[in-house]
Amino acid sequence: MHRKAHIHILLAASLLAASSFTEAVVNGPLPIAKLCDCTAGAVVHNRPSLEESSMNQNKDPSRSDFLFRDRQKRCGSLEPDGEWLELEEEIRRRHLQHDPAVQWLAGIAAPGKTRNSSWAREKIRIILEAERIQDMRTGDVFRPLAPRELLIQGDLYLCNQVDGIPWMVPTNALTRGMLLTGPQGGGKTRLLIWICHQLSDRNIPYFILDPKQELKDWADYLGASYVAVDDISIDLSPPPGLTYEQWLRSLMPQLGEILGVVYGIEILQEAATICIDQREKYIKETGKDTELCLNDLYTAVPFVTDISRGRRAGYRDAVTTGLSRILTGTGDLFRCRKGIDLATLLNQNLILGCRSITDEFAAKFLALYLLYWLYEAERFSSPTDSLKRVLVLDDATLYLQKRTGFDSLSSTSSFTHIFARLRSSGNSIIATTQIPHLSDPGLLALSNTILCVGGLHYGEDTKLLTQMLSLSEEQRRAIPHLRKREVIGICAGSAWPRIVHGSTVEVLNAGKDTHA
Ligand SMILES: Nc1ncnc2c1ncn2[C@@H]1O[C@H](COP(=O)(O)OP(=O)(O)OP(=O)(O)O)[C@@H](O)[C@H]1O
Ligand SMILES: [Mg+2]
Repeated sequence: MHRKAHIHILLAASLLAASSFTEAVVNGPLPIAKLCDCTAGAVVHNRPSLEESSMNQNKDPSRSDFLFRDRQKRCGSLEPDGEWLELEEEIRRRHLQHDPAVQWLAGIAAPGKTRNSSWAREKIRIILEAERIQDMRTGDVFRPLAPRELLIQGDLYLCNQVDGIPWMVPTNALTRGMLLTGPQGGGKTRLLIWICHQLSDRNIPYFILDPKQELKDWADYLGASYVAVDDISIDLSPPPGLTYEQWLRSLMPQLGEILGVVYGIEILQEAATICIDQREKYIKETGKDTELCLNDLYTAVPFVTDISRGRRAGYRDAVTTGLSRILTGTGDLFRCRKGIDLATLLNQNLILGCRSITDEFAAKFLALYLLYWLYEAERFSSPTDSLKRVLVLDDATLYLQKRTGFDSLSSTSSFTHIFARLRSSGNSIIATTQIPHLSDPGLLALSNTILCVGGLHYGEDTKLLTQMLSLSEEQRRAIPHLRKREVIGICAGSAWPRIVHGSTVEVLNAGKDTHA
């Protein structure tokens, strides 16, 4: 039965039965106090204030023993009201202080030692007992549930709580990053679709990297264009406001990090300089404009001076191998000097299908290039909390893996910096992954909405999720048993900041816009 209905039936039955209720009725409406205003010592209201007492003491020296006289009588009401404190503690633990019925009863119950308050305390006990029975009946370790009053505050519908109440969060909460995790087939991509559908209704542009080509059929439903990487090219032209010199020089360390050639960055920088010089020469000689592409960088590496001997030869080989992996792994994507305009690409609802990219370096470079381009393009944007654009990385572990190698213990990567800048300019990153513990640490650190859909099975992952959601040991053990589409999660911008347990909204195949 619905939790609230259960409580209210119990309450109604006890209202009829309780003879002491007459007093409450006869005395007319009783004061409604919010629980947070009520304390166990609320009965001291009629006594003189502390200031008054001390003023009197100062005026009348004969009262110098004021503090010790009649101590029993004066302080009796200050004795902690153990019975009420106990009830109040459980109300808070179960987050029932937001329930209007409990608030009303608490206002009557708190003062103590009146017939009304004993009656109200009895009713509160009944409510708490109903909650305990419900805990046992459901065996849900993620209870207590969030109160409706807090859960529905927001305009973005994430999922339903187990009692059917929709979990709404402010759309702007997305600027603080979102991570969706769960096993294969858990329902992550479908949840992404559900979120993007709402964004499209609100005219917030989003860009999705779709490595499995799962979203092609959803383009209409999402109000997005679908483009496959095989059909476009991306050149190396700088974002607005930057010169080639500035752009390529800042891009090379990022590229070196992806290729795992930290000592080869110098070679990449020199190759970039050669390319820039060649371009200027070409423009001067022919009078025609041209851009550069990644293939130009690869072609320039053998012309870097003094690289055929010693260690530099080794770095050169690593750089050449890495670049050729990117180029062969992406078809013509990075071989053309006149690529697609990224400003247009990133300012509309677009799904970029990248199924054909299978090489790890190639996938990482594609994601990095797009994110870094936007990062530089947003350099002069003023900081904002409102959502401007959403970048979605489905199966993000393909692009944003935790580093291996000698610097793998470092908890940040260049992505951390990129994400931080992007989000301060209103760009949100939503990423999904089956294996969160292998994801880039920056992605984990900057995701303040974390949803696990369908549970996790690998020990390292459940451990990580336990830390990220601050779960108890009992809750950690429950993670592998979550069913498909069952969700646990938190959202930092939600009015209810604790864990929510529920299930995803039903989104039927091929976007036949139906939901529960
Ligand atoms: N909200 C939903 N409404 C209706 N069906 C769903 C929903 N979520 C999941 N499903 C069903 O489960 C299937 C798998 O879901 P989905 O593709 O979202 O899983 P996933 O977590 O993205 O898996 P993977 O990690 O393999 O990409 C869907 O094809 C669909 O049939
Ligand atoms: Mg998926």
